Amino acid sequence: MNNNNQKISLTIDGVEVQGKPGQTILEAAEAAAVYIPRLCWMKNLTAAGSCRVCSVRANGRVQSACTQPIGPGMVVENDTEELRELRRNLIDMLFVEGNHFCMFCEKSGECELQALAYRFGITAPKYPFMFPQRDLDASHPEILVDRNRCILCGRCVRASQELDGKHVFGFVGRGTTKRLAVNAPDNLAQTDAEADDQAVAACPTGSLLVKRVGYAVPVGQRKFDHSPIGSEIENSDVQD
Ligand code: FES
Repeated sequence: MNNNNQKISLTIDGVEVQGKPGQTILEAAEAAAVYIPRLCWMKNLTAAGSCRVCSVRANGRVQSACTQPIGPGMVVENDTEELRELRRNLIDMLFVEGNHFCMFCEKSGECELQALAYRFGITAPKYPFMFPQRDLDASHPEILVDRNRCILCGRCVRASQELDGKHVFGFVGRGTTKRLAVNAPDNLAQTDAEADDQAVAACPTGSLLVKRVGYAVPVGQRKFDHSPIGSEIENSDVQD
């Protein structure tokens, strides 16, 4: 019978790792100080498995590491050229599908999409820009919604429900017209959103921003200015 003290042995890129029952590949890897890139996954939120940036090969099949549970003897490939190329393509597509002008964005240096592009050596997308027309919602006195930078990861949607106990954000539309919506007839100011909601902090890009704090930390001193995304995991201690 499984219990939480039991260990599950698996390998990640040929290195043996000990996981716990119920862990996903991403969680077991992180506990073993192995970074698997991710965007829609966030600690303490239900995994959505939507962005596929965390794709690994598990026993030969491509799976999202944030949703696939570990199993005994599982062979996981993570840092291979095939998977790096897959992730580069996904990140590339996210850039061209929105309007991401990093040099003008308050989140620059703290944006996970930008940091992933740096980590994967993407300097210019290889696909044509789509330049979609997207709405901006500056109605709220303290929060800005810029849909140009939204990658539809759904972290704000889940954080609002699961952490804030609200339902401020959701999605409407399908395909290329899918967009972030707010739970009010017109705009964010009509909702119960507050600047310290975890939903706002959950945004990995500059799509949800607290107003008037954008440049409090100067460029050059921001989270990813000195160390690449994922290095905090790679430099962490292996957990028991
Ligand atoms: Fe796993 Fe997005 S982080 S699918």
